[in-house]
Amino acid sequence: LEIYLAGPDARGGRLTTDLTLLEDEAREVLPPAVHAFVAGNAGTGATGRANREAFDRWRLVPRVMRGVTRRDLSVSRAGLRLPAPVLLAPISAQTVVHPEGELAAVRAAADARLPFVLSSYASHSLEDVAAAAGPQPRWFQLYWPSDEELATSLVRRAEASGYTALVLTVDNPAPGYRPADLDHGYLPFLRGTGLANFTSDPVFQAALPPGAGTDAVVMHWASVSGNPSLTWERLPWLRELTDLPILVKGVLHPDDARLALAGGADGVIVSNHGGRQLDGTMAALDCLPAVRAAVGDDVPVLLDSGVRTGGDVVKALALGADAVLYGRPYLYGLALDGQSGVHHVLRCLLAELDLALALTGCGSVKAIGPDLLAPAGPFP
Ligand code: FNR
Repeated sequence: LEIYLAGPDARGGRLTTDLTLLEDEAREVLPPAVHAFVAGNAGTGATGRANREAFDRWRLVPRVMRGVTRRDLSVSRAGLRLPAPVLLAPISAQTVVHPEGELAAVRAAADARLPFVLSSYASHSLEDVAAAAGPQPRWFQLYWPSDEELATSLVRRAEASGYTALVLTVDNPAPGYRPADLDHGYLPFLRGTGLANFTSDPVFQAALPPGAGTDAVVMHWASVSGNPSLTWERLPWLRELTDLPILVKGVLHPDDARLALAGGADGVIVSNHGGRQLDGTMAALDCLPAVRAAVGDDVPVLLDSGVRTGGDVVKALALGADAVLYGRPYLYGLALDGQSGVHHVLRCLLAELDLALALTGCGSVKAIGPDLLAPAGPFP
């Protein structure tokens, strides 16, 4: 009831509580090129649409009269312990939507006690983000650079700054073909935004000529940040490098999930990068049950790509996820109202999730199972 009792004040300023409408509100305040960078997808946008359609094809089948006074949102699977089944997805270059960028987002995440996953391509350094977050758990997303010394340095800095897990994103051996960004001629990184983890890195700095300007920094970043030669055989090298749990993000095929575990990963994140990489892929949600079946019950499996509402979280959990990464909606909150905007968005999502648990007859997220779902259509 909390969110109703608080009345219109529950809304961050005048932000909508409809989490699917935030994109439209953000469109009003962002320059078109920036809006397109965040909202845009690869190619025709088919994967982006498929992600949403996959959620819509499932219907919840609630059970009633189950005693749901208390709802326990906490998650526990293998080494994964979370207060709620939600983390903030790694999203690059957040100062393009708000001057405080990741600092504001991580503060809002810490307020909500949800782990923030910091992108490799952040506009504030991982040390500054750690300081802003305080003691709340945070994860670091690694784009594994081709320079081993630089990769090692980034991982060591993440460890030293108290990040508690590594998210290794593997669906980016090349950038996605994103017509909107190409037409606007806009990518933040090429203007030097989103490179703070590199410009603050001693190994990266050492490779630059003295007095290097933005162009030289961008060129050097471009030469070390992509790593299309990576294969599964290399994963044990990273496994040896760090004791942090490693979650491999960007897996759709169950065989890749198996290979990730065989290489030493602790978990996988089923994701098609929100439809931003390869146009025409399967929806992430549609790949989830096969990945869960492939890895078994004792491995953390997370999902992102298309999660918008509390009901979506329930559907993802019912299909085998332990938690979801929440992506674009929090960035729209950041664009609209900085830290309070992100806070508002997270609060709405958690409120809707809590209500969805009550309304489906689940006293805890552990009670969510496949029996809660049916394909759209008549009673199965
Ligand atoms: C991303 N995503 C992403 N993923 C990652 O591993 N590293 C990154 O730096 C980024 N950067 C990034 C920028 C922008 C603008 C977006 C929208 C997304 C992908 C992100 O983590 C997540 O997979 C998607 O956002 C999920 O899709 P939805 O639910 O946001 O549509």
